[in-house]
Amino acid sequence: MKRIMITGALGQIGSELTVKLREIYGADQVIATDIRKNETEAALSGPFEMVDVTDARTMLEVAKKYNVDSVIHMAALLSATAEANPVFAWNLNMGGLMNALETARELKAQFFTPSSIGAFGPSTPKDRTPQDTIHRPTTMYGVNKVAGELLSDYYFHKFGVDTRGLRFPGLISYVTPPGGGTTDYAVEIYYEAVKNGKYTSYIDKGTYMDMMYMPDALDAIVQLMEADPSKLKHRNSFNVTAMSFEPEQIAAEIRKHIPHFEISYKVDPIRQSIADSWPNSIDDSAAVEEWGFKANFDLGKMTENMLDKLKQK
Ligand code: SER
Repeated sequence: MKRIMITGALGQIGSELTVKLREIYGADQVIATDIRKNETEAALSGPFEMVDVTDARTMLEVAKKYNVDSVIHMAALLSATAEANPVFAWNLNMGGLMNALETARELKAQFFTPSSIGAFGPSTPKDRTPQDTIHRPTTMYGVNKVAGELLSDYYFHKFGVDTRGLRFPGLISYVTPPGGGTTDYAVEIYYEAVKNGKYTSYIDKGTYMDMMYMPDALDAIVQLMEADPSKLKHRNSFNVTAMSFEPEQIAAEIRKHIPHFEISYKVDPIRQSIADSWPNSIDDSAAVEEWGFKANFDLGKMTENMLDKLKQK
């Protein structure tokens, strides 16, 4: 990667990835794009262009204008929002991906897009879910992710586009809050712990999901994109994870720093049913073997860092 275009650059992952890539590759080498502009570091610290990912022509024009050699496609709806607007989700998630893949093909650019634990479904083995397994998701988001993985592999085999992807678990960060995801509770809980000392969880106790701290997710993207292609047996997409926990465990970890912290439950049936259809934990050994993936933050280390940063905020 030398000159990179990011779509959805002001979103949950994009806003931090843009800043990180500018630190590594140079501010002018990373072209941030989104449907709106704001006053964040991602928007202001280097080139920024308005791109609606469903508008193929503008996306291609911007990529050509900057002569990019890498496309990182982040713009998408998360699981709960997609479930509330399935037709819109299909059009945005799949239309945007198709346009981004076509842009990469035209420019002979390297390509990254995230998949998710949402690509699995109720018939997938639930514990230590293997890299290669059953994919019958029951959410629109999951359908989009599986189709996206297949489409990305298709572009590699058919057109030689260097496509790579990661199946991210829930991502936790103190910078940009997620919007409309199922794993968002694991972010909200920290904000509420610092602000109010209590949190009402919409995900029920006993519900395990994989999670990862954002710095590990950003490192994983860079590492995968820079990995030796001859070592990659898989491409779209690799299982990656850092931890698996249920709400009571994150609450217990928070209590080590905020002893009076209390958790209660008011389960949201829609997000709970999405969570129930996802794995309890996934097996990331393919990522470890093929390109050396390693997460640095476990639940304890992440909790300490999250609470510190949020208190400063
Ligand atoms: N964090 C995402 C969501 O909950 C999962 O990929 O939708």
